[in-house]
Amino acid sequence: MKVRAAVLEDFASPLVVQELDLDDPRAGEALVRLVACGVCHTDLYTASGSDPSGYAPTVLGHEGAGVVEAVGDGVRAVAPGDHVVTLFSPQCRECVHCLSPRTNLCLAIREQQNRGYLPDGTTRLSLAGEPIRHFMGTSTFAEYAVVPEIALAKVSPEAPLDRACLFACGLSTGLGAAMFTAAVQPGSTCAVFGAGMVGLGVVAGCRLQGAERIICVDLSEDRLELARGQGATDCWPADGHAVERVLEATGGFGADYTFEATGLVSVMREALEAARMGWGLCTVCGVAGKGETLDVVPRLLITGRRVCGSSFGGVKGRDQVPELVELYLRGEIDVDPFISHRMPLDQVNRAFELMEAQNGIRSILELSA
Ligand SMILES: NC(=O)c1ccc[n+]([C@@H]2O[C@H](COP(=O)([O-])OP(=O)(O)OC[C@H]3O[C@@H](n4cnc5c(N)ncnc54)[C@H](O)[C@@H]3O)[C@@H](O)[C@H]2O)c1
Ligand SMILES: [Zn+2]
Ligand SMILES: [Zn+2]
Repeated sequence: MKVRAAVLEDFASPLVVQELDLDDPRAGEALVRLVACGVCHTDLYTASGSDPSGYAPTVLGHEGAGVVEAVGDGVRAVAPGDHVVTLFSPQCRECVHCLSPRTNLCLAIREQQNRGYLPDGTTRLSLAGEPIRHFMGTSTFAEYAVVPEIALAKVSPEAPLDRACLFACGLSTGLGAAMFTAAVQPGSTCAVFGAGMVGLGVVAGCRLQGAERIICVDLSEDRLELARGQGATDCWPADGHAVERVLEATGGFGADYTFEATGLVSVMREALEAARMGWGLCTVCGVAGKGETLDVVPRLLITGRRVCGSSFGGVKGRDQVPELVELYLRGEIDVDPFISHRMPLDQVNRAFELMEAQNGIRSILELSA
């Protein structure tokens, strides 16, 4: 079939919205009519050419939601008509990582996905007979996508898909960092560095876990206001004194849980320094620049602080994305404030410009009705 899609033809140049060929889903795959897709930093990072593992041409986009239209042979997990959220972090439920409760890093299709192929090593996307690679196993800046069934979370049909798409990456990454990676305990003190999509999700996750005090630090007053709306109890400007202030506010000890959601290694260090002696856990969500390293004073670790990373919030996508969407439907997660702009696929480059200007939290591409 013919589909309109936003193609990254060359790094550091605008995406080109054009008509491509999309082949039918093969065994273990589904065709999804995309309804909405959020525009995330990872899309921009790849488009810019900064990601050393990036490739082109490809159809970007990974924060998608839509409706299954058709399935290939042997597909049992989803059926036509199902409402789904795409998972750049799939869940096969069979590999050694899926069988462990300790990680969400499914191994099943990792290698092919990283190289831009579907699990059988080919692509469904092409232009004039030349294959176009898939991005993050999803390629959702498009009207339709063919996706492995293990990379689709079936969500309640009650959930509006133009909100549910945020659970495909940014929001789940933040919520999950607090709920699953850190597993914040009720009554805790938390400190969240960064109040973009991810940091705001962390704030909401800390609230849902029953944290007593949630400190949020950011450069932007507007974003701190949004953090307050998500449950932050203390909102502080990032003025270089955040660590001192966290220590002061906690009797000199530090916060039980700290989170970094900026992508800056200097802030990762601040987050570790603000974690409590004895048991403070620092969770790193941000993706640092190529070649950057985190500078840690070992004494901080010996005295009981721990640091860990979180990919997609530790969320096991097929099991837990539907649960997070249920929490939203029950009114426990306020999704609307994250959506700052809505636009058609043709304006995807404008969404990138808004993101670079830190204008709003998320732009949503409206792909079909
Ligand atoms: N781990 C994952 O699976 C995953 C998934 C999605 C995104 N990410 C990464 O998470 C990070 C955050 O993503 P986002 O979409 O929320 O980004 P964003 O740019 O919208 O938000 C970052 C925020 O950090 C703030 N900030 C900048 N300097 C600061 C400082 N010194 N102290 C405190 N705050 C500061 C900015 O004002 C901004 O609000 C990025 O690095 C992104 O690549 C990771
Ligand atoms: Zn993302
Ligand atoms: Zn797996």
